Amino acid sequence: MKLCIDHADTQQIRRIWEQYPVDGVSTNPSILAKSGRAPYDVLGEIREIIGPQGELFVQALSRDAEGVLAEARRILKETGDTTLIKVPAVPEGFRAMKMLRAEGIRFIGTAVYTPMQGFLAAKCGAEYVAPYVNRIDNLGYDGVQVSKDIHDAITRSGLDSGLLAASFRNTQQVLELVKYGVKAVTVAPDVIDAFVRNAEVERAVGQFTDDFEGLCGAGKTMLDC
Ligand code: G3P
Repeated sequence: MKLCIDHADTQQIRRIWEQYPVDGVSTNPSILAKSGRAPYDVLGEIREIIGPQGELFVQALSRDAEGVLAEARRILKETGDTTLIKVPAVPEGFRAMKMLRAEGIRFIGTAVYTPMQGFLAAKCGAEYVAPYVNRIDNLGYDGVQVSKDIHDAITRSGLDSGLLAASFRNTQQVLELVKYGVKAVTVAPDVIDAFVRNAEVERAVGQFTDDFEGLCGAGKTMLDC
């Protein structure tokens, strides 16, 4: 299962990338807008951090399929040809997906709120489909369950696709999908940090230090005794 960072703050991305076993970075137009920087500057810096093998997700804005295709070519030129193009799973988006597939461009179906959107994107050849877990929860439905349904539909149909589940607000939402074995999740830095933030663990590690220093002296480690 892949873990990606859903953010465009390059300081945060660098920190998380160095600290955790992360596979890539996903962005969308709103995330890029929050950075306040020129989009290709940010994306170039992200590509530098994650290298050519890191997964980078960049969304096209055009509402017509020809425009999406033209944007995709420019995005690949600017950020490398392994970048995945995010295409909203709307009627014209599906037409764009079929055109991207014909050109051999990697893409994902995004803005997925229902199982049928996810299924159709996978059937168009999307490498991933991105259900928005927390936004679905906020509509009064169960975002985790919708994601599981899409995962099941893709798997049982034998389609070569999987989830890049997105829009998480807490660790529990992520954990449910990790346990279910989805293909990938993309998570904002504050929620990634919360995966392992635990005062009891900090206390236990602190106690090891105190006990060892009691034995060998302040600041001592296994190098000093
Ligand atoms: O790209 C989709 C995902 O990032 C949406 O997340 O946090 O805006 O609901 P959020």
